[in-house]
Amino acid sequence: MLRILCLMVLLAAPAAAQNLDSLLARMTLDEKLGQLNLLSADGKASQQQMQLVRAGRLGGLFNVIGAENTTAAQRVAMTDARLKIPLLFGLDVIHGYRTIFPIPLGEASAFDPDAAEATARAAGQEAAAFGINWTYAPMVDIARDPRWGRIAEGSGEDPYLGSQLAAARVRGFQQTIFATAKHFAGYGAAEAGREYNETEISQRTMREIYLPPFKAAVDAGVASLMSAFNDNAGIPSSGNAWLTDTVLRREWRFKGFVVSDWTSVAELINHGVAGSQAEAGRRALTAGVDMDMQSTIYADSLAALVRSNRIPMRVVDSAVMRILRAKKRLGLFQDPYRAKTAPANADLRALARRVAGESIVLLKNDSGRGAACCAPTLPLSANAGPIAVIGPLADNKEEPLGPWHTQGQASDVVTVLQGIKAKVGAGTQVLYAQGAGFEDTSTAGFADAVAAARQAKVAILVLGERGDMSGEAASRSELGLPGVQEQLLEAVAATGTPVVLVLMNGRPLILPWASDHVPAIVETWFLGVEAGNATTDVLFGDVNPSGRLPVTFPRVLGQIPIYYNHRNTGRPPDPNNHYTSKYLDVPVTPRYPFGFGLSYTTFSYGNLKLSSARARASDTVTATVTVTNTGSREGTEVVQLYVRDEVASVSPRVRQLEAFTRVTLKPGESRAVSLRVPLRNLAFYGLDMKPVVEPGTFRVFVGPNSTEGLEATFECIR
Ligand code: BGC
Repeated sequence: MLRILCLMVLLAAPAAAQNLDSLLARMTLDEKLGQLNLLSADGKASQQQMQLVRAGRLGGLFNVIGAENTTAAQRVAMTDARLKIPLLFGLDVIHGYRTIFPIPLGEASAFDPDAAEATARAAGQEAAAFGINWTYAPMVDIARDPRWGRIAEGSGEDPYLGSQLAAARVRGFQQTIFATAKHFAGYGAAEAGREYNETEISQRTMREIYLPPFKAAVDAGVASLMSAFNDNAGIPSSGNAWLTDTVLRREWRFKGFVVSDWTSVAELINHGVAGSQAEAGRRALTAGVDMDMQSTIYADSLAALVRSNRIPMRVVDSAVMRILRAKKRLGLFQDPYRAKTAPANADLRALARRVAGESIVLLKNDSGRGAACCAPTLPLSANAGPIAVIGPLADNKEEPLGPWHTQGQASDVVTVLQGIKAKVGAGTQVLYAQGAGFEDTSTAGFADAVAAARQAKVAILVLGERGDMSGEAASRSELGLPGVQEQLLEAVAATGTPVVLVLMNGRPLILPWASDHVPAIVETWFLGVEAGNATTDVLFGDVNPSGRLPVTFPRVLGQIPIYYNHRNTGRPPDPNNHYTSKYLDVPVTPRYPFGFGLSYTTFSYGNLKLSSARARASDTVTATVTVTNTGSREGTEVVQLYVRDEVASVSPRVRQLEAFTRVTLKPGESRAVSLRVPLRNLAFYGLDMKPVVEPGTFRVFVGPNSTEGLEATFECIR
């Protein structure tokens, strides 16, 4: 009798009190496979989904919106289901929940991991207040091809910057909710920039370029990784045991779980590596993909394979345990509803404005009169006479939210026109004309725009892409301004009124005419709810721009892929030698290089010193350089350190970013800035595919971007 009583108590006890092994031992096969099943809701769980929760056949839901709806579904899991295992509630909180921050590519321009951590923390807190406990971010895919629309969601082309930001965002989100590093791996290398396309990444390039941000996320304690859609050299990422088992679990000792991307388990059939749903499920699960997003294959088709021993029960058990452990680590067994309060709105908006300001990159700032003698066009003076504000994005509240803005509302957005009007006040006339829509073929609106520009002392053109022209499934084959925007720009510039081009876009655009003819160009990406205020802060000099490009801007489409950390080739470009690596019709250099961005002040670099001329592979070399603000305004410089391995057994990259820091200096102020380079970070994958730092000379460059800087060398000794 006592035994029966004990058993009854055990069965009724909340899972919190139990250890996970005994919980697993009590699960039926269907309940186990249920934990591996993840479904998207349409705002709230459907009746059918609630029934799955009740039956213990669903481990998590995503796209459940609002605490009321997450609570309702969680209540079913915690009261009606036999084992009372809490649900995960996922959502793509990419760069904000309701308060939308800059798109990740924009935020990467700030070269400021603290800022990335702060926005991720705030986004996580806000999402948690609405019942979300798991985000599908950060996206840490390296992207070298701006045709690929998802370049907007990542940190650009560089593995070092990407790793710093990946770790920062994981730390930020995971203050309240779980993060997911995605898309594992190589998805950003889609051939021809075409979404979902195959990739062909060598193991060396995979390990040196595409994997480091994932490793950084794992080291920062990320709870989950998402397996990608792409196949690499014929092996789909959602069925690639080398990635999800050998590298992730064995080498990196990742203890979290892997979720598939949306139906990427089922898509193994389209990839041609599985002939049936069951085979697709077996391939994915045995490769190490624990949770099946949206295919329902694990829940519906794997039980028979387990019963017939074609999938060992231990494989299922390991996957289930990883998910149960994650739920426990998140505290869901103790507190399944996790009522959280969102940060104050004013704080969120202040953070959004500050980080948006940091994310803006000043690409060009010449005199508006075309003469070198005169002052640069920017910053503007608030009382300098009528200002024309023109373009489809000038007063647009939707697009600054970018391609993936969760619960962001257009009504929360401050437009550039609103920001400028608020800044200049009633004393300065602001003349607005839309000029053209995004993809208009008609030039009918040009006359108003030209008339406004004629009356003005300066014309600010806000041009670019619609928010959904980047992001998922938004590859473009031409990277100019859509529609007649380029003609609008040229028509306004023809008035002779100095033009400031404010760009909003999710990727590098290719704008040769503007780069040659427009005196001032400001890259603002999609900055989120504070877009208009942050842009105005920069246009009028309240914020001195400090953003730097996290991705190379090509001159022409034919240069793609173009990135700064390429190898030298056997015939590096030489204008005096025909048979060298170059084009007949365009220079090999980019329009704007990685790391580039201007300021309203100027900086000089001097006195570069290394802490030692000789160091071992286990040592750290510190570079110290004196940076001086040589202009007349306070400004922030992003000091960048690159290294080149002069001779190695595998052809080295011409430069690789190894450190950076932001330094704010008053006019005339100098500071000695130190940057540390642990030599183990200089390792490459050798001929035997093992990481190695080979003895020899290393050249260090410290400067304002990837093409300039002071140089010094040190020897790596055995
Ligand atoms: C995207 C993922 C996203 C998932 C869930 C997929 O289409 O590739 O990045 O997390 O949908 O919304």
